[in-house]
Amino acid sequence: MTDADTIKLDRFKELLLSRCGLSFEKERAVTLGAGVHRRMTSLGIEEPDVYRALVSGNEAEFHRLVELLTVNETYFFREPDHLKLLIERLIPEIVKDRKQGQVRIVSAGCSTGEEPYSIAMLLRERYGAESGKLFAIVGVDIDANAIARAQEGFFGKASFRGTDTTLIERYFEPAGMGEYRIREEIRRDVVFEIANLLGTAYPPVMGSPDIILYRNVSIYFPVQVQHRIFSRLAELLNEGGYLLVGATETMHHDLGILSLVEQDALFLYRKLPKIHIGDRRGQRRAGHANEQQPAPKHSHGATSRRGHASVVPERPVPPAVVPGIHALFDDALELARTNRPDAAIELLETLIERDGSFVKAHALKGSILLNLSRYGEARDACNRALANDPLCLEASLMLGIVARHAEDGEEALKRFREAIYLDSSCWPAHFYTAEIVYSRGDRKRARSGYESTLRILDTGAPGEHERAYFPLAFKSDQFAAICRHKLSLIKEQGT
Ligand SMILES: C[S@@+](CC[C@H](N)C(=O)[O-])C[C@H]1O[C@@H](n2cnc3c(N)ncnc32)[C@H](O)[C@@H]1O
Repeated sequence: MTDADTIKLDRFKELLLSRCGLSFEKERAVTLGAGVHRRMTSLGIEEPDVYRALVSGNEAEFHRLVELLTVNETYFFREPDHLKLLIERLIPEIVKDRKQGQVRIVSAGCSTGEEPYSIAMLLRERYGAESGKLFAIVGVDIDANAIARAQEGFFGKASFRGTDTTLIERYFEPAGMGEYRIREEIRRDVVFEIANLLGTAYPPVMGSPDIILYRNVSIYFPVQVQHRIFSRLAELLNEGGYLLVGATETMHHDLGILSLVEQDALFLYRKLPKIHIGDRRGQRRAGHANEQQPAPKHSHGATSRRGHASVVPERPVPPAVVPGIHALFDDALELARTNRPDAAIELLETLIERDGSFVKAHALKGSILLNLSRYGEARDACNRALANDPLCLEASLMLGIVARHAEDGEEALKRFREAIYLDSSCWPAHFYTAEIVYSRGDRKRARSGYESTLRILDTGAPGEHERAYFPLAFKSDQFAAICRHKLSLIKEQGT
């Protein structure tokens, strides 16, 4: 390629970057060159400048070029953990709270439709024929050819990597030449439309989504485009809604626009609904360092104290416990760990009725409720734990997390301080403290918090840190990844 060719290609690069966010730097420049060359040959155009003028003035030709340049790689049930979380947890919660109207799901950058069709099939599996009425599923993509193929619904072998054969039998019919066509009932469940995520206006079908899947799309965008599109999608999202990006893209979008939340050990973004925590006066934790409090009755404490154990006031010796209570608790813990939260809560309530002073039962209940995003109830359970044991570490930690969700940073910081005071190796408290101070621009303090978290996580046996505290869903490796990412950002920005 001559210098003149490179300069001419640069003009296409600028056009594509500004119009649809796609970047053709380094090895992707070859793809761009080949695409431009192909279109010029089929149109009989010899001068790149002539073709560039055509592309910039003619929408149809712009789309034809884009079709040659997009990466449409996709397949059914990609990143299955995300889909499981969606179908089993997030969507049922939204359905439960929905008073009227459909739950709206948008696959932004849906390519040839495997992603939204996967959702439609899984919703059929869970909700049967009702799902057509309960949900509106939309797939959009800039690539008109991909959208046409999605609408037709024919798929070859590559789309079925890892698809359960029973689902293929149930939702596809053979179409010859090794292809399958998705059944009409599923085709009807999904509306497809061409849309440019960087375009000036989104089509009305994308309006008011409760869930946006924006997976494996942003990897082709430079950082400024990633920020712009993420902000626009966030704005579009309904309050309380979720935005899922691909696992490898997650950290790049932690920009303070949406809240990064963890559910079932997966990270996703949420537009948090505003919640109000009632006036805490009168129910403040009596066991804080400088406050006077009555001694707790008996505690069956939640977590053994480590780190600063010597400065933690002594607890009274617990009296004999109600027989069978520990077995019940172990069963509830097992139910919670095997993702049966309702059964676990029911059992814990039975247990609490028998012995309301069993601190671990309140703490576990709080943890399960927190994982279910039932913040108000989680807070009540934690307060009951603290009423019985003012030194219950998990209760302080969880109240901090609840306060953070309610955007009450001061209360959250106070609770995390308490947790660290009770156990200096309480890494989630260090981590969340760092997150709050980072969001406030205090990079120095944030760095120290992230470094403390990593220091703690780098010691101890594998798996030890996962199980050290309720809530149940802390995945230490993912927290460590966030810490490293944030530390590199802080380093770039300078403290
Ligand atoms: C790799 S596919 C991802 C498909 C699917 N989301 C998945 O995870 O399997 C990326 C898709 O993003 C689309 N895309 C790229 N830039 C876009 C833009 N500006 N607006 C809409 N879609 C875009 C591409 O056309 C391509 O089909």
